[in-house]
Amino acid sequence: MTALYGFDTGVVRVRCEPSGREARVVENSTLMDAVEQVLLPLGRSCDGVSLCGYCRVKVVAGSENLSPVTQGEQEILKGLRADAAERLACCARVLGPVTVTTSYW
Ligand code: FES
Repeated sequence: MTALYGFDTGVVRVRCEPSGREARVVENSTLMDAVEQVLLPLGRSCDGVSLCGYCRVKVVAGSENLSPVTQGEQEILKGLRADAAERLACCARVLGPVTVTTSYW
């Protein structure tokens, strides 16, 4: 979305490391939407419905700009023994600039 005078409103940046590819997505999009935009692979076997946990990513910066972890996401992350910096890309919604990575990018 572009508002008057060329300023973007409601659009947020998601940077993927180490490639540095950047997605620009509408606020409240999922991290999965952003990663798909820059054509990086992302694991999944539940088609993004918060069941498999394969879509987990590590948040390098901007974790405060993601939606809070839901109870369902927390249960999956706990089962994966994920560290505190990890989120499920299909669950986490982007509210501001974020940088993420995975072990396979
Ligand atoms: S794609 Fe399965 S939990 Fe995210």
